Amino acid sequence: NDTVNIGLIGFGTIGSGVVTILKQNMDLIEKKSRKKINLKKIVDLDISTPRGVDVDPEKLSTNVDDILEDEDIDIVIELIGGYLPALDFILKALNKGKHVVTANKALLAKHWDEIISAAEENQVKISFEASVGGGIPLLQPLNESLAANNIQSIYGIINGTANYILTKMTQEGLNFDSVLNEAQDKGYAEQDTTFDVEGHDTAQKLILLTILGFGKYVKEENFHVEGIRNITPEDIIFNLEERGYVIKLLGISRKTDNELEVRVHPTLIPQDHLLASVNGVFNGVYIEGDAVGPVMMYGQGAGSMPTASAVIGDCLDIINNPQKEIPFGPLKENPASLKSIENVK
Ligand code: HSE
Repeated sequence: NDTVNIGLIGFGTIGSGVVTILKQNMDLIEKKSRKKINLKKIVDLDISTPRGVDVDPEKLSTNVDDILEDEDIDIVIELIGGYLPALDFILKALNKGKHVVTANKALLAKHWDEIISAAEENQVKISFEASVGGGIPLLQPLNESLAANNIQSIYGIINGTANYILTKMTQEGLNFDSVLNEAQDKGYAEQDTTFDVEGHDTAQKLILLTILGFGKYVKEENFHVEGIRNITPEDIIFNLEERGYVIKLLGISRKTDNELEVRVHPTLIPQDHLLASVNGVFNGVYIEGDAVGPVMMYGQGAGSMPTASAVIGDCLDIINNPQKEIPFGPLKENPASLKSIENVK
């Protein structure tokens, strides 16, 4: 069959980006996938508010079964976020033999083993490049191009909202709350912005990077997570002008002897380090491998179009490589403290 049918669940910020890109670049995308691509159905609770992109009303539905029960749909894109009902939708899609593309880091970080096992049992793929670092090609390079390496460390600025806020505080001396509203208006922030500012979103993404980088599954309650709410413009200016450091919210996962150290907190970074120049909504992830040395990935970490770019990239990857499996496979969480995660090598 030369046509690939796609169902989109969630017509919000990223969902509208997906529809926009498919409209703008369909010819090119079809040439690259060498298939006809049909966005067959779009499901959302709200199908009346205009999204700034024209959609055939026949494609819109409020009933998720129009996607999950449709045997012709090959790929389900889940972009509603949150835990429930997203988990049910994803599991149902996988159990129906459909591939799934998602940007849902919160869900994957919490239910990794269950979701990956369901994909493997049904011999379908779950792809989630958009869940970490927005539009940055990050997970696929980590999984594939860097597969030969023993990863030593991952340092990531992986929350666009927090980085946008810190950058504005640094460059314009603005205070925290005024900038947070701006980040929300631009479509960067999570529905619950405490996830961004208190470090949980960074932690969820770091959990995924730790799985793919080190083959270890740690839960957020087992590592230190601290956000940026208490940082003042004065802290920033003092550290920059008197000491030459910028403050960034960093997710860190690295090997120390035989242990894995995982943590999220505001970190002082020397002004001349590459990560110090990652500003605004941009994310940067600095990875060290034993063979490759340091590698840095950089790009827009949030927002409609960049994140949608990664979602569609995942769809093409599924079309071109439907058999490819996730490195390390399902991993049981390690319920004990990090100190006991030994012999990481
Ligand atoms: N709220 C997230 C961020 C969205 O600001 O980075 C992208 O995952």
